[in-house]
Amino acid sequence: MAEHVCPVWVGYFLANPIRKLYHNPVKILSPYIKEGMEVMDIGSAMGFFSIPAAKMAGKNGKVVCVDLQKEMLEKLEKRAHKAKVFERIELHNCSEKSLEIDQYKNQIDFAWAFAVLHEMPDVSNVFKEVNEVLKPNSKMLIAEPTGHVTNEAFESTLNAALKNNFKVIGEPEIRGSVSALLEKK
Ligand SMILES: C[S@@+](CC[C@H](N)C(=O)[O-])C[C@H]1O[C@@H](n2cnc3c(N)ncnc32)[C@H](O)[C@@H]1O
Repeated sequence: MAEHVCPVWVGYFLANPIRKLYHNPVKILSPYIKEGMEVMDIGSAMGFFSIPAAKMAGKNGKVVCVDLQKEMLEKLEKRAHKAKVFERIELHNCSEKSLEIDQYKNQIDFAWAFAVLHEMPDVSNVFKEVNEVLKPNSKMLIAEPTGHVTNEAFESTLNAALKNNFKVIGEPEIRGSVSALLEKK
């Protein structure tokens, strides 16, 4: 696995329930996820956000969990079974160059990329691909860790979003993160 990609052992720390005290998934995602929605977690790892999202989306909703690393998704699968939400989860193992999500075109109600964009080699392509799967006027939340990502680097990420048919409609406050709420134009 490329050096810049989060190793699987870190995935265990990220999925630790104690993290909820710092990053509360319900507080962060509940303004955007409603019952019955089909949503997408980009760089889901072991599902720290995907599993609470599956609960928010309810039994008629779905969470598409996209990750480069099979091992992350395998662990997510086990965690989703344990949480009794696996039937609402779709695991999608992508490649480093592309999310390979064409099959979801115009289907997704909301997407998020938490602490992952700085690991991706072509952020512009990520925005292009996500824009295509979102329904018109749907939103995408992005958040990057301030420790790893400078304001300047985040500005350049936002520029890539603007060039790919998104507008910035907010800057939700998320601990230890620089963030933006985007809307598909
Ligand atoms: C730092 S972790 C963040 C995980 C999760 N979003 C969270 O906040 O708990 C980044 C995740 O993104 C995945 N990732 C890195 N590059 C990727 C790419 N090009 N496409 C899809 N996933 C990628 C890694 O495998 C890892 O699981």
